[in-house]
Amino acid sequence: MTFDEKISEYKSFLKNNLSEKRYIHSLGVADAAKSLAAHYGLDENKAYMTGLLHDICKELPASEQKELADKSEMSVCPEEKISFKLWHGIAGAVYMKNTLSIDDREMLRAVRFHTVASPDMSEFEQVIYLADLISAEREYKDVELMRQYAYESLDKGMFEALRFSIKDSVKKGYLIPRVTFEAYNRFAKTQLK
Ligand SMILES: [Fe+2]
Ligand SMILES: [Fe+2]
Repeated sequence: MTFDEKISEYKSFLKNNLSEKRYIHSLGVADAAKSLAAHYGLDENKAYMTGLLHDICKELPASEQKELADKSEMSVCPEEKISFKLWHGIAGAVYMKNTLSIDDREMLRAVRFHTVASPDMSEFEQVIYLADLISAEREYKDVELMRQYAYESLDKGMFEALRFSIKDSVKKGYLIPRVTFEAYNRFAKTQLK
């Protein structure tokens, strides 16, 4: 199957299996990922496909997300295990590998870590993380600023994104996975004057 054929197959799957809002978000993240990848000299097609698929398991029932996530061979930290909202990234990577036969390690890691980040993310994985936050349909207060940071540099984008995400989680009283703190520290170091 060609790249375009795969994309149209995935799109029709997502259209049939996600709410309209989530489907539009997926298309938005695919576009944002492609554009960021072009900006940073990375593989645009791979970024588009990964952005498109990143939330593929987001609307599955919790029990099915858990069942998939339990099959993951990637490390999962204790805070993630008890935070339902974070399972869809882990489950998504398992689904992509087992059902869609995608074996590109970076694509799988990008989906697995798009919720929590990780201190050893590659540039490609950072692009997917940021694309999820700055896609066209996003409407939170500082989204324009976040878009600027994401294009300024990946270090700055990731630093500001993690700062924002940790602040928001604390405000809501959510757990913060240790990988998220480790990722924050990695990128905060790049911003020390
Ligand atoms: Fe997500
Ligand atoms: Fe998303």
